[in-house]
Amino acid sequence: MSEHTVKFVGTGEVITVSDKETILSRCIEEGIAQEYSCRVGMCLACSAEVVEGDVVQPAARGLTEQERESYALTCMARPASDLQLDRGKYPPSIETETETDEPAAADD
Ligand code: FES
Repeated sequence: MSEHTVKFVGTGEVITVSDKETILSRCIEEGIAQEYSCRVGMCLACSAEVVEGDVVQPAARGLTEQERESYALTCMARPASDLQLDRGKYPPSIETETETDEPAAADD
């Protein structure tokens, strides 16, 4: 088991996360206000931009392959190196998800 340092840009928060646990799990344990909802890699609420370092997140189904290089879904992501993350940064596909999730206008 390896442990990695995760720093959050703009907040000064620093946590240590092992490669066996998710970043979100450690945030919850440490009382860090990381947003989340589904906890299964689908809703993107827990997204963070990866400013530096690498994550492993094979189950991050809400991200495209290209987005996986720049964003982490913290509910699924485990650190593969020391990291700098910018919380609350969302991938472009979240705009598409929002548009397709809106109900169609009713014809009254
Ligand atoms: S909480 Fe929904 S994708 Fe992480």
